[in-house]
Parts: sequence; structure tokens; C-alpha cells
Amino acid sequence: MSVWPRDPAPSTPGPGKLTLPELAAMKRRGDRIVMVTAYDAPAATLADQAGVELILVGDTAAMVMLGHASTVPVTLDEMIFLTRAVTRTAQRPLVVGDLPFGSYEVSDEQAVTSAIRLVKEGGADLVKLEGAGRMTARVEAIAGANIGVVAHIGLTPQSATKLGGFRAQGRTADAALQLLDDALALQAAGASALVLEAVPAQIATRISQTLAIPTIGIGAGAGCDGQVMVWHDLLGLFAGSTPRFVRRYADLAGQIAEALGQYADDVRSGAFPEEQHTYSIPDEELARFEAALSAR
Ligand code: KIV
Repeated sequence: MSVWPRDPAPSTPGPGKLTLPELAAMKRRGDRIVMVTAYDAPAATLADQAGVELILVGDTAAMVMLGHASTVPVTLDEMIFLTRAVTRTAQRPLVVGDLPFGSYEVSDEQAVTSAIRLVKEGGADLVKLEGAGRMTARVEAIAGANIGVVAHIGLTPQSATKLGGFRAQGRTADAALQLLDDALALQAAGASALVLEAVPAQIATRISQTLAIPTIGIGAGAGCDGQVMVWHDLLGLFAGSTPRFVRRYADLAGQIAEALGQYADDVRSGAFPEEQHTYSIPDEELARFEAALSAR
């Protein structure tokens, strides 16, 4: 088993860690930014080795890791625990810790306190929160505390009930203008990047062209500055239906089911373990053991 690098001091950029100015330069050059979610140390290592720029410890963990039906129930303590696992092994990518529902809506003070915990205890490089309007002040407060913030508009799953379900946003001229105004306000408030979820491609492209900060799309078309996908969706680890914007790059759930089935068959038939999987004791020690046993 490999040994994980030991805990770096939270929020201290290690050697080779990407920086926000480098991310901004990628946008200016037109280099696309790759973001993926991850919720544990092995996934973070693999994402790092694949060369992604951003890892999001998303509150989708509530659904794909913890078995909840929505993202709402996950707690700040749980998000810190998962973020800590990711930041233990991710070296180069910037790690974004998601502020869960209930950890920032009450006041600017609550938002800053929660963000500081994600950075100090979870080791996050940046935090993310959903929404605009009153949440713009939260972005400003957190950025004012010198913590990088990723804003998230469009379909914001924490408020899916208010939005009328998991549906695309910004599909009327008025709603699209509102999204653009929200994006500009969040940028002015100090957001370092913006996630656009389930937004018409034309609108996301226009927002991306208008903003100086990078946009990261999910279900927002190819005109965004980068893309994010949920680990379990991308790798086919999540049984059940996926949104239309998901492309599965593997069927790991199928491969795991097959491997587990073979393992169970081998255990039941005695085909596993074999000689090579077991430890031995020298013959003379075994003889002494047997002799001691019969003397009892
Ligand atoms: O929590 C999450 O994984 C997210 C992405 C879907 C953007 O917010």
C-alpha cells in the first residue's frame, strides 16, 4: 500500500500548487480548465495525476457518498471531513470545499466562520457557495476575509425546491438577463470563479465572454472557460439516471459488480485464498507448536 503524503498545514500552498492568477491566465489564453469532484484521498490522487486544475469537494457528496436523496442534509462537519481527505493527497490542483446548505445563509458572519473552518480544518484552497442576490454579500464577506470564493448560479441544487425542481435556468430573456447581472455582481463582490449549472449554452457563452473571472460549466455548453463533472457520473459509479449533461467515461459500477461477484464465488468455492496469499511458519516452529499443544 502506498503511503499518503502527510497533512500539509491547512491553506499553505505546497510546491507545485496551482494559483488563482494561473487560473485567470488560463482564461485569458483560452486554455480550458478541468474540474472534477472528489470526496476521498484515492480519488484526489487520481485526479491530481490526471492533471485536473480544480477538485471540487461538492455537497453532491450527500447523494453520491452518503446516500441522501438531495444535497441538503450534508453538514459542515461532514464536508470538512471529506475535504480533509482530499486535501491530504491533492498536490497541484486547487481544492474547492463546498459550503453546505445551512452553513452560510444566515449572516455574513456565519458564512465567514464556516468558510474559515473549511480552510483551516479541511485544508480547502477555496470555498464555493450557491446563489446570488442576498448571497452576493456572503461572497463579498468571505473574499474580504482573504478566502477565495467560487460562486455558483443557474441550477442551484440546494434551492431546487424553490426553483421548481432540477430544471435548466435562464431560458427566458428576462431570466437570462438576471443571470448575467447576477454573474457581474458576484464578480464585483470578489468571486474568483463562477460555476454555471444547467444554463442554455448561448447564455453561458455570453456570460463567459463578459466576465473576467473563469466560468466553469456543468450542463452549460462548450462556451464556458472550463467544465466540471461529478466523479460518480463521469465514471459510471452512480446507479440510476443521470442528467442529460453527463457523459459517462467508464462503467465502474459494472466492473465492480463483476469483480465482487467473482470474489464471492471464489470464497465460496475455496478458490481464494491460494498458497501465494497466505503466510507460512518455519517447519521447526510449527513442530514445536504442535508438540506444545499435545503436551497441554
Ligand atoms: O456539489 C457539486 O458537486 C456541485 C457540482 C455539481 C458543480 O456543486
